[in-house]
Amino acid sequence: MKIEQFTIEMYPEVYEIWKKTGLSLGKSDTKEEVQRAVNHSQDLFIVGKKDEKIVAVVMGAFDGRRGYVHHLAIDPEYQRLGLGNEIMQELHKRFTEKKIVKVHLFIEVDNEGVIEFYKKAGWHTREDLVMMSYVPN
Ligand SMILES: CC(C)(COP(=O)(O)OP(=O)(O)OC[C@H]1O[C@@H](n2cnc3c(N)ncnc32)[C@H](O)[C@@H]1OP(=O)(O)O)[C@@H](O)C(=O)NCCC(=O)NCCS
Repeated sequence: MKIEQFTIEMYPEVYEIWKKTGLSLGKSDTKEEVQRAVNHSQDLFIVGKKDEKIVAVVMGAFDGRRGYVHHLAIDPEYQRLGLGNEIMQELHKRFTEKKIVKVHLFIEVDNEGVIEFYKKAGWHTREDLVMMSYVPN
C-alpha cells in the first residue's frame, strides 16, 4: 500500500470510506472542519492507496502535548488484509519522529472488534480514567 499525506481534494473519497465503515460522522466531518484538522496536523493525517484508489485513512493529530488518533478506517473490501496495521505502523512512526510521549484514542464501548485490533497493535485500555466532554454552545 502506498502511503500519502491527506490533501483536501481527497475529502470526497475519504468521506465515502468513513461512511461505508459506519463511523459516527457529524459536524466535525464537513469539508471545512476537515480542512481545519489538516491545517493543524497535516503530516499526521494520512491515507493508503492501492492502484491509486484510497483504501485506508487515519487522522492523526498532535495538540502540543498529546497525540490523538481519529477516524481510522479501511475500505470494507480491503479489511483483514493487514492494511489497518500497516497504516497504523506508519502513524506510530510519525508520532515517534515528533517525540510525542503519549497518544490517545477513543472507541465506542460496543465496538469490540476495534478494541481487539488496537490491543494487537500494542495499545492498552485505561481503567483509571473517565472520558468527559464539554460542548460550548
Ligand atoms: C478496525 C479496522 C481499522 C481494522 O483494519 P484491518 O485492515 O481490517 O485490520 P488488519 O487486517 O490490519 O488486522 C490487524 C490485526 O487485528 C485483527 N483484527 C482486525 N479487525 C478485527 C476485529 N474486528 N476483531 C478482532 N480482531 C480484528 C486482525 O485479525 C489482525 O490480527 P493478527 O495480526 O493476529 O492477524 C477496520 O476493521 C475498520 O476500518 N473498521 C471500521 C472503522 C472503525 O471502527 N474504526 C475505528 C474507529 S475508533
